[in-house]
Amino acid sequence: MPESQIVVVDFGSQYTQLIARRVREQHVYCTIVPFDIAVADLALTAIRGFILSGGPESVHQSISPEVPEQILHSGKPILGICYGMQTIVKQLGGVVEPAQKREFGPASVCNLHVGPMLHGLGDRLDVWMSHGDRVIDVPESFDVIARTESAPIAGIYDAKKQIAGLQFHPEVTHTTNGDAVFARFLFDICRCQKDWDAQSFIDTTIDDIRTQVANDNVVLGLSGGVDSSVAAALISRAVGDQLTCLLVDNGLLRKGEITSIERGMEATNALPSRLKTIDAQTVFLHKLKGISDPEEKRLTVGRTFIEVFEQAARKIQNVAWLAQGTIYPDVVESAATKWGKAHVIKSHHNVGGLPERLELKLLEPLRNLFKDEVREVGLTLGLPHSLIDRHPFPGPGLSVRVLGEVKPEFIDVLREADAIYIDELKQNGWYEKSSQAFAVFLPVKSVGVVGDTRTYDHVIALRCVRTTDFMTADVVDLPIDMITYISNRIVNEVKGVSRVVYDTSTKPPATIEWE
Ligand code: XMP
Repeated sequence: MPESQIVVVDFGSQYTQLIARRVREQHVYCTIVPFDIAVADLALTAIRGFILSGGPESVHQSISPEVPEQILHSGKPILGICYGMQTIVKQLGGVVEPAQKREFGPASVCNLHVGPMLHGLGDRLDVWMSHGDRVIDVPESFDVIARTESAPIAGIYDAKKQIAGLQFHPEVTHTTNGDAVFARFLFDICRCQKDWDAQSFIDTTIDDIRTQVANDNVVLGLSGGVDSSVAAALISRAVGDQLTCLLVDNGLLRKGEITSIERGMEATNALPSRLKTIDAQTVFLHKLKGISDPEEKRLTVGRTFIEVFEQAARKIQNVAWLAQGTIYPDVVESAATKWGKAHVIKSHHNVGGLPERLELKLLEPLRNLFKDEVREVGLTLGLPHSLIDRHPFPGPGLSVRVLGEVKPEFIDVLREADAIYIDELKQNGWYEKSSQAFAVFLPVKSVGVVGDTRTYDHVIALRCVRTTDFMTADVVDLPIDMITYISNRIVNEVKGVSRVVYDTSTKPPATIEWE
């Protein structure tokens, strides 16, 4: 692990993960812990400082979340943001009171040019505020370093203890210069080194994997997605032939997918030499026969995957580890346990229940990384852009893109139509400008005419969305002449399609997938 670490203490703010990202963007490693963590669990020596997040609570409640005393008096620098600042003030003897009016939105902060926290950032800072309480008296030995019209104490600093507090949110992009604010704390106050980057992550993780795994064998389910591919490349570089990657061809993959995954892995010097493709197309399609309910399809694909994977994994000698491409957002969500907020630390069982069934230990080398960091690690390991920048593809694959019952002939039609669509998007520069694009097979028939002949065939819908978090999504405004061209190609080149439609639904109210 890098020598400089920052710990973000989470009080349940919706912005906690953003704080961690801002720190890592400055090449300083950081982790998020719940505010009620047992401090003994922290490796204090490596920690250069703490950042306390905001949170939905008020310090006026009869019991409110507090910073553990061992952290507050650890002698390490601390930056409290919003609620984080208010609890510092309250715990150290200052006064916080409910503001007459909740301050929410953009604000202009006056920099009082006191101490290092806002040093050199100009007289005024355009910031984002979101708070209902305000500090009206600072604890002894603290200076006021910033104020706004409605919050006369919008920033504080204790030079001796190196404890700072900011009422505003430097982590959100609405705060201009937020990065510079973090830089002051990380480099001028905590004296962090910039020692967190993809290469240093790779080097230390390879060492860790070698120590952890020793002489055991590891099995990994390769899906072709970014996370499992990067995990495979990393583990393979660490333990070589001890890793076996199983690529299950469930018959629900896109055209050319298996070859592109195999080629993608070949492009790294860390190619898992034991990459086994299991042809289970018939098993999956047989199990899906007669099922048209989307949830039942998902369950069937999931269950069948486990059976097929388990059978293949049991054939590998001396396996003690199941590797997964779990990433940080899968691990950390929020942490305000006793206050009724979701405290969900979920281990993302991509291959649900398998570790227990196979009695394997979990190896999750990416569990501290955000998605963009995973991509960077992948590129540094030599994985090609074509693999790293792929649109996400759901686990149940094309089974949820053939509406209703999944028939092999419908899958074939969809696969061809989807390949034409994606190929055209790539050629015209729209693939990288969108977040997810795919074709859907509609099991309705419509009349068409080809030459002098009347046809009566199926309908293909095209979907193309732009989103940052996949929770909401906008429709991409593809040029209509390009859609028409794609439509013509599909109707002419794919037997069984008489009509193509473009999906213009945003999420919400529609979901991204049709099922
Ligand atoms: P929805 O359709 O819920 O999709 O708006 C949001 C994102 O999740 C993907 N998705 C899935 N991924 N298994 C997966 O691994 C699933 O069952 C599943 N359903 C939806 C979808 O492709 C989109 O990126």
